[in-house]
Amino acid sequence: MSSPAPVVSVLLDPDWAAGTLVDDVRRGLGATPLRLPPKWLYDDEGSRLFDLITRLPEYYPTEAERAILDLHGADIAEACDATTVVELGSGTSDKTRVLLDAFDATGRLRRFVPVDVSEATLRAAADMLDERYPDVAIEAVVGDFTLHLGDLPGGDRRLVAFLGGTIGNLYVEERGAFLGALADSLDPGDWLLIGTDLVKSSDRLIAAYNDSQGVTSAFVTNSLTVLNRELGADFDLDAFSYVPFWDAHMERMDLRLRSEAPQRVSIPGADLEVDLASGEEIRVEISTKFRPEGIRAELGAAGFEVAHIWTDPADDFALTLASLR
Ligand code: AVJ
Repeated sequence: MSSPAPVVSVLLDPDWAAGTLVDDVRRGLGATPLRLPPKWLYDDEGSRLFDLITRLPEYYPTEAERAILDLHGADIAEACDATTVVELGSGTSDKTRVLLDAFDATGRLRRFVPVDVSEATLRAAADMLDERYPDVAIEAVVGDFTLHLGDLPGGDRRLVAFLGGTIGNLYVEERGAFLGALADSLDPGDWLLIGTDLVKSSDRLIAAYNDSQGVTSAFVTNSLTVLNRELGADFDLDAFSYVPFWDAHMERMDLRLRSEAPQRVSIPGADLEVDLASGEEIRVEISTKFRPEGIRAELGAAGFEVAHIWTDPADDFALTLASLR
C-alpha cells in the first residue's frame, strides 16, 4: 500500500530571513574580526556556486562522504533500529537517496522528514522522494535547524542525519548548543548520523578552499552581494580579495574577505555604517576539521554515545553513528 501524499509543514515565519539577517549582520559586523554567518551564503546564486564546488577536483568532502554512504549505507541502516529518518539541511536530498535506499532495504523505514530553510527546494524534493519511496511517508519541515529542533515529529525511533560536514561551520560553543538542543529534542535510544571532515595536510585543505577556477572565491564573495541586495548595502565587491587560510591551532579553515582599500560601507537595511581599514578582513565562514577523539568528546558531552565511526578509504571524511543515552 502506498503512503499518503507528502506533507510540508512551514515553521519559519515569513520574515524570519529578513529579521535574522539584520540581527546577524549587526552582531557580526560589531565583532572582531568582523564576521558574517555562513548561512547567508546559500541564496539561489550561492547554492548554484556551492553545487559547482562539490564537483571541483580539489573539493574532496562531497565525494568522500558519498563513498562512505555507498560502501557502508547498509551497515549504518543495520546498526540502528530507526523507523523515521530526519535529515537536517537536506537541500535537494541528493545524498539522502543513498541513505534512504539503505534504510528502505531493511524494510523498517516508515517515514522521512527532510528539514530545510528553502520551501521550494523541499517541495521539489518531497515530490521526488514520494515517487521513489511510495511506502514511506514524507513529512517535510521548512525550518531552521538551530531553531526548530523541538518541533521534529516524534512517536517512533528516529535517526537524525546531519551530513555534509555542516557542523564544522559552527564555532565550538555553537556546536555544543546545537548538539545539546538536539539531545533535548530526542528520546533516549534515538540516533544521530553526523558527517565531519577530518584533519589532513594543510596543502590539501587550502587547495579544497582555494580552487584554481575561483569558484570558492565567487561563492564567498557572494555573501556581500546578498547584503547589497537584501539590505541595500554598498559593498564594492572589486575592493575585496578572498583570503582562505588554515588555522592550525583551531584546526579549521578560516575563509575571509580582505578590503584592499579603506572604505566606508553603508548598510541601510541594518541601520549600520562600517568603516573598513585597508587590509581589514571579514570572516565569512569557518570550516572546522575533526579528529575521531574530538568527535567522541563533543558528542559525549551532549549525551550521545558513539556506536561507530566510518571513514572513506582515504580517511578524509567521517560519518559517525551515535545514540542518545
Ligand atoms: C557545506 C559547509 C560543508 O565547509 O566545506 C565549501 C561549505 N565553503 N567551500 C564546507 C564550503 C567553501 C562546506 N560545507
